[in-house]
Amino acid sequence: MSKTTVISVANAKGGVGKSTVTMLLASALAKQKKKKVLILDTDSQESISIWLKSEQRNYETDALVTVEALAPNHVQMFLKKFGEDYDFVFIDIPRMTNSLNEATNIQVLYYCDVILIPAIGSRLDVMSTSRFFKIVQDAAKKKKELGFDFKVLGFLNRETNRRDNQEAKEILAKNMNIPMMEASLRELKLFTSPSLFESILDTKEGRDRFEPFFNEFCKQLKIK
Ligand SMILES: Nc1ncnc2c1ncn2[C@@H]1O[C@H](COP(=O)(O)OP(=O)(O)OP(=O)(O)O)[C@@H](O)[C@H]1O
Ligand SMILES: [Mg+2]
Repeated sequence: MSKTTVISVANAKGGVGKSTVTMLLASALAKQKKKKVLILDTDSQESISIWLKSEQRNYETDALVTVEALAPNHVQMFLKKFGEDYDFVFIDIPRMTNSLNEATNIQVLYYCDVILIPAIGSRLDVMSTSRFFKIVQDAAKKKKELGFDFKVLGFLNRETNRRDNQEAKEILAKNMNIPMMEASLRELKLFTSPSLFESILDTKEGRDRFEPFFNEFCKQLKIK
């Protein structure tokens, strides 16, 4: 069995925090858990690769995490050749804007062991998340039939005190049967500058705001 865990923070919808949460988790796993972590950036906008380059100017050290930009249809080949060099591979996918890129992105989900679905607490977002969850459930069913482990977890990102946030969480969990994480990520300025060179858990504010989510993530994935 492969020792590498392939994870995607994925949602068909754009701007829900896929890339942000990918970077936060990847850096924390590298720093706090001493894991070898790779991010495959399959978004043609290369947001994580560009982020890495812009951060690089302020550091003389290497990043905590390796980042590779590649086309979605090269992911399988890449994983086969280099996947085993890493403990964790995150695949950052773009928003799904048309049926062609939807099909390509869905294929990428099949290479994953874990899908984390960020959802925003509004009615509109809940609807689109439930549609995406059905796609993920299909992948889960097929993978399980073939004997692969496959874990799906939803979580609320950009949580605020507005009432529809709690409502959304309940609807996602109860009506749509999405296994939701207890911990959410608040709407905070802190999360708008994730680093690939430093872990958010190295600051007190970062620990206060991110540790409950990170600990639950590690517990779910049995990461020591
Ligand atoms: N918890 C949060 N609190 C505050 N801002 C956040 C939070 N999560 C994400 N953001 C902000 O929301 C915006 C979208 O985040 P991000 O780019 O990670 O989303 P995405 O799902 O990867 O988008 P895309 O579909 O375009 O790839 C960014 O400006 C980011 O800084
Ligand atoms: Mg993104």
